[in-house]
Amino acid sequence: MSETKVDVVLQAQAVSKRFQDGRLDVRVLEEVNLSLKRGESLAIVGASGSGKSTLLHILGGLDRASQGEVQLMGQSLSNLSASQLGMLRNRHLGFVYQFHHLLAELNAWENVAMPLWIRRESSQNSQQQAQQLLTRLGLSQRLTHRPSELSGGERQRVAIARALVTKPACVLADEPTGNLDRQTAKEVFELMLSMSKSIQTSFVVVTHDPELAALCDAVMHLKDGHLSLSSSGI
Ligand SMILES: Nc1ncnc2c1ncn2[C@@H]1O[C@H](COP(=O)(O)OP(=O)(O)O)[C@@H](O)[C@H]1O
Ligand SMILES: [Mg+2]
Repeated sequence: MSETKVDVVLQAQAVSKRFQDGRLDVRVLEEVNLSLKRGESLAIVGASGSGKSTLLHILGGLDRASQGEVQLMGQSLSNLSASQLGMLRNRHLGFVYQFHHLLAELNAWENVAMPLWIRRESSQNSQQQAQQLLTRLGLSQRLTHRPSELSGGERQRVAIARALVTKPACVLADEPTGNLDRQTAKEVFELMLSMSKSIQTSFVVVTHDPELAALCDAVMHLKDGHLSLSSSGI
């Protein structure tokens, strides 16, 4: 396969991150590099506190690197204003968290349609796209359930649908199945990866489960601030 530049969706070059905590200088990331192509899935594993969430925040433009550069769809995040960054994020990224962050007063399809409403798409079109995607995720019988009426695995599938409904170039997922039992976690994880392939959305997934990580195209390990290809990865 040729490594053409257009294929690269997300790239980090020598990204370092320090937190100034009083007089203490906490160095979390040290010259981290990664490159993600369209439709590719990358798992990031590492001990608690190793900086996985910090890295995802920087990749998603929610936090800034102390040094180094992140490029999303060929555009460097460091040169953008807050509003430009917001627009780029809105257009190209989706986020999934460990806890679903669904809106309690909205039902499943309304939660999924929300990002389309924000983009001012027509309500009919938004509803149709949300319901179609939920159906593909096996939730056709749960469209009008509220989050409190769904199981943990169903909620995470709704959260994944919400992240994917805008067909972003890349989804950043921080322990998306960390709150689920093993069997449900595996099912949700596999569904997420198969959706990623079918709509060619790239995924960066933080997980502490090596078995789930191994389902991704590549596995990287974060330790002592350094990110390297994991020996168990492909
Ligand atoms: N806003 C912050 N200010 C100071 N230190 C932080 C901040 N965010 C994270 N850290 C520190 O950075 C390290 C990595 O945190 P985090 O990225 O949440 O790790 P992980 O997601 O791998 O568990 C921890 O030592 C944490 O205390
Ligand atoms: Mg974390």
